Amino acid sequence: MINYDEVVKSYQRRGIPVPTREMIKTDEQIEGIRAAGVVNNAVLDAACSAIHAGMSTEEINTIVHNKTIELGGIPAPLNYEGFPKSVCTSVNDVVCHGIPNAHQILKDGDIVNIDCTTIYNGYYADASRMVMVGFPSEEARKLVKCTQDSVDLAVSHLKPYESRLRDIGYYIEKFCKEQGFGVVHEIGGHGVGIDFHEDPFIYHYGKKGTGMVILPGMVFTIEPMVNQFKRNVCIDGSDNWTIYTVDGGLSAQVEYTIAVFEDHVEILSR
Ligand code: MF3
Ligand code: CO
Ligand code: CO
Repeated sequence: MINYDEVVKSYQRRGIPVPTREMIKTDEQIEGIRAAGVVNNAVLDAACSAIHAGMSTEEINTIVHNKTIELGGIPAPLNYEGFPKSVCTSVNDVVCHGIPNAHQILKDGDIVNIDCTTIYNGYYADASRMVMVGFPSEEARKLVKCTQDSVDLAVSHLKPYESRLRDIGYYIEKFCKEQGFGVVHEIGGHGVGIDFHEDPFIYHYGKKGTGMVILPGMVFTIEPMVNQFKRNVCIDGSDNWTIYTVDGGLSAQVEYTIAVFEDHVEILSR
């Protein structure tokens, strides 16, 4: 673990904001989050490989719930701030936080985000993937690929002791905008590991070279939501969870949990 006080002093002299002490995890904590990530990845594997046209999103929930328990974990979404299910399933124009439902049947051409968070031995790992049902339109496939590539691009630019928090969003939004897509601003990534949602808020837009410096020991998600048309979103007034695109366009999301080390970053869940 870094000598926090010494490292912080050197940045503060130069007027560069630094993470708080609470944002720096110990090696032991990261080991625990890594183990949660292994389980979370296995849950995502099970859910994503089962997806087919004709199944309900409720069936995805059942797979996620049972697999998580089978592997000794707890599905973090269940009862989180009143969320009623064990996974978020966000189909087509749903941006995020879609609630699995027995009446919602997947059909050929749908794009669906599966967002799983596992608590394992007290530690949290959070990740989401896009799954294409059958053969989505070329535009839908382009959106999904752009979203995936934007996360990989942001990770590839992350340099411990050098990168700044807002570099992440700078690279993501620039990349997506160049392809004509809109990046959602209202919902962001977050610190994760000891709790589901920790500081800092991870923006998916912003100005390069601004925000706190990225230091070893930080563990956070990168999870951009990318819209086919406008970036604007609205919330379902009856369930108070489901987030939609305002214009009815498609939306895709990819989420990783990453950990920062001395000379590299590691993807703990994807
Ligand atoms: N997994 C989501 C995230 O990436 C949070 C979902 S909150 C829930 O932060 F309650 F809807 F599960
Ligand atoms: Co998250
Ligand atoms: Co998530």
